[in-house]
Amino acid sequence: MTQSFIFATANPHKLEEVKAMLPAHIRLRSLSDIGFSGDIPETEPTLEGNALQKARYIFDRFGKPCFSDDTGLEVEALNGAPGVYSARYAGATGSQEEKAQANMSKLLAELSGIGNRKARFRTVIAYMDASGNAHLFEGTVNGAISEEPCGTTGFGYDPLFVPEGYDLCFAQMPLDEKNRISHRARAFGKFADQLRMENEKHC
Ligand code: IMP
Repeated sequence: MTQSFIFATANPHKLEEVKAMLPAHIRLRSLSDIGFSGDIPETEPTLEGNALQKARYIFDRFGKPCFSDDTGLEVEALNGAPGVYSARYAGATGSQEEKAQANMSKLLAELSGIGNRKARFRTVIAYMDASGNAHLFEGTVNGAISEEPCGTTGFGYDPLFVPEGYDLCFAQMPLDEKNRISHRARAFGKFADQLRMENEKHC
């Protein structure tokens, strides 16, 4: 049976990436697919809070099952920063590429002279089911922050993040390999299990 969900994102690349991580019977609609072009508040101090805030905001307006995700890079020596502020760590102005460069420069400066480079990416998905119940799913990948950027694929902090068990940073790995082990893939794997379970109940 086809299951239909709103994904609270305006990013078409994210929509395609997430579609590929979910079972084939799932139909996803983005915010633009449902004709929503406003700004959704993201004012909570945690990934969980922000993900829930976005999913609830859309559920309250459209009354349909929906989900959102929020990701942060958590660096141990910086007490979990940039965390929920990862996207705008060095400021909110400029293109995606400019912001990514500024964020990486700031992170390297903050870690200058610090030996503990441990970090993790963490994704939280908030899902509002058809009855309005909230569910949270988390995916993490542990790793370390390199001394300098390397590689050219991916986005955001990929040139600085070396996942545990690898000598390469995310930006040096083929995208399908990153997507196999990533925080996002792990969180969406758990979400997919929940959706399969709901589908079996209705069949
Ligand atoms: P979002 O919640 O998915 O929009 O992620 C927030 C921010 O975290 C992004 O703007 C990036 O800076 C960073 N980020 C999220 N996922 C990744 C990733 O897979 N690689 C590198 N940076 C990421």
